[in-house]
Amino acid sequence: MVLAVEGLVLQRRDGVRLLGPLDLTLAPSERLGLVGESGSGKSLLVQALFGVLPPGVLQTAGRVRAFGIAMDQPSPSRDRLRGARLAWVPQQPGQALNPLLTLAEHLALLPGLHRQEAPQAAVARLRPLLARLRLPSDPAFLARFPHQLSGGQRQRLCLAMALSCDPELLVLDEPTAALDATVRQDFMDLALELHRERGLGFLWITHDLTMAADVCDRLLVLYGGERVEAGPVARLLDSPRHPTTARLLAAARREPSGETGFLPAPQDRPPGCPFGPRCPRAQASCLDWAPWRGTPGDGLRCQQPLAAGIGP
Ligand SMILES: Nc1ncnc2c1ncn2[C@@H]1O[C@H](COP(=O)(O)OP(=O)(O)OP(=O)(O)O)[C@@H](O)[C@H]1O
Ligand SMILES: [Mg+2]
Repeated sequence: MVLAVEGLVLQRRDGVRLLGPLDLTLAPSERLGLVGESGSGKSLLVQALFGVLPPGVLQTAGRVRAFGIAMDQPSPSRDRLRGARLAWVPQQPGQALNPLLTLAEHLALLPGLHRQEAPQAAVARLRPLLARLRLPSDPAFLARFPHQLSGGQRQRLCLAMALSCDPELLVLDEPTAALDATVRQDFMDLALELHRERGLGFLWITHDLTMAADVCDRLLVLYGGERVEAGPVARLLDSPRHPTTARLLAAARREPSGETGFLPAPQDRPPGCPFGPRCPRAQASCLDWAPWRGTPGDGLRCQQPLAAGIGP
């Protein structure tokens, strides 16, 4: 398995649960889309996968392994993995860029670290990739600093850095948010080409279910730090079963959902199904929702019958 997450629980220092218990597996070359509204725990999950949780967040249970290596404990083998076989495009490009390094120096960072490649050789090797990402590669452009780039260019620089050591799994946290439509399409085409040519797998985080459908085989829907539904993309789009999935789909298709309410703060989450207070088909039994464990594959948490007006 490329990724194996078992019973992962993330909490704040005050004991409030932010994510989990969560199980997740990813096979080689698999393309998994992670969707969920803002605050559902997508970025925290990614930070846990790379072993870089923010100071206020603790892993209190579970295991996270990538290519068989524990990612939740420091080790030389973990260092060799991160940025090489396992690459990450963070949600904020600013998190990955150093204001004091030029573009060329950024591009040479990971190849220097993981392959002992000389900076000039690395930049020369990466020229075709820059062209695919519609980034210039002339010396004047490569001598710029991050603040001299547009937001979309910074995001593309992060994508080029993530791909610079030919990873096997690319974790993308909303990678196309700052890109215009043409560049977004180019990037998706490039990712799909690398998938076909070299078996690159993705964990692709997005709010946009229709975009996920273009680039992923399987979807996992998070709500309130919990997995509520998972399955093949076509199945989830054709017949979403959990109301959270149906809502995301309606939003992606710009259909009115007629629904109000918002994701409660982690300390205010209800017992049982986290979507319960907003759900038009909530029943008393939804309060007895045991954590979804032991089935890292596909499945659905919601057992309520589909009500009229929810989903297509
Ligand atoms: N450093 C932190 N300390 C305490 N709580 C945090 C911290 N980082 C995130 N959280 C909380 O954890 C929850 C999940 O946050 P996360 O950033 O993973 O959401 P997300 O799904 O990535 O949202 P978005 O789509 O807006 O990026 C939120 O309630 C958030 O407030
Ligand atoms: Mg996020």
